[in-house]
Amino acid sequence: MDDSLRQAVNLLSSAARVAALTGAGVSKESGIPTFRDAQTGLWAQYDPTQLATPQAFRRAPRLVWDFYEYRRELMRPAQPNPAHIALAQLERRVPQFTLITQNVDDLHERAGSIHIIRLHGQIHRNKCFNACRGEPTYVDVAALEWDRAAGPPKCPHCEAFVRPDVVWFGEALPAVALSAAQSASATAEVMLIVGTSGMVTPAADLPYIARQSGAALIEFNPLPSAITPIVNLHIAETAGVALPRLLAALEERHGA
Ligand code: APR
Repeated sequence: MDDSLRQAVNLLSSAARVAALTGAGVSKESGIPTFRDAQTGLWAQYDPTQLATPQAFRRAPRLVWDFYEYRRELMRPAQPNPAHIALAQLERRVPQFTLITQNVDDLHERAGSIHIIRLHGQIHRNKCFNACRGEPTYVDVAALEWDRAAGPPKCPHCEAFVRPDVVWFGEALPAVALSAAQSASATAEVMLIVGTSGMVTPAADLPYIARQSGAALIEFNPLPSAITPIVNLHIAETAGVALPRLLAALEERHGA
């Protein structure tokens, strides 16, 4: 066992409360490109961060809806990878384990994680743009018929456009999710930070909250991130390689 893995095992072995913060890097090995990766085909000409805003949706609802349909299509064949699976198995070993994700795919659930806080929503769900029955007013678009060439479907309650249930740039995070994530961070003894650049707040503030409350931080990212300067341990490998190794090392020490 190499030294950083041994240190990670030491930190995790005695921890009863563990939080994991995940970002796009954890889904990368499932083939899901991030916003910051170059887009392909028709979408290569657009800056995704300019499409993922309420202003863009107001201005060009069809363009933004089609962009999300394209991203959903990209995600459709994706399967959980060894990193998602290792996190789900780790949850079973720790008395209080909270997985906080910025990802909008459903790969953590599909890998078997149970206690998940979603900070940025869920791309496969949709809601009313006007939140006409309160935020969020979910809409099941499978039950709707509409002219796809004309743009997004309309909310069956109020006729506003339907939009994906994701947090766009400039929007507030779901308050309940954010406060649950902050309290899991403040009470964690160890925080795992997996595949996030730490560039987008308030998610990027969570490791600071954990650190200030005395948690040990272990980062899994092949590259340094904005959070690396405050972590106790940076494991510079992909999540799909490093997390299964960590799990195996824990099992070796304590039994499967
Ligand atoms: N394993 C671990 N980390 C990886 C891997 C991998 N296989 N591949 C890439 N990474 C790292 C990259 O080095 C980078 O630091 O994952 C990070 C991905 O960073 P971002 O693309 O910025 O993703 P994220 O931090 O999740 O972005 C936050 O910004 O794009 C918006 O709302 C979107 O939720 C997203 C938010």
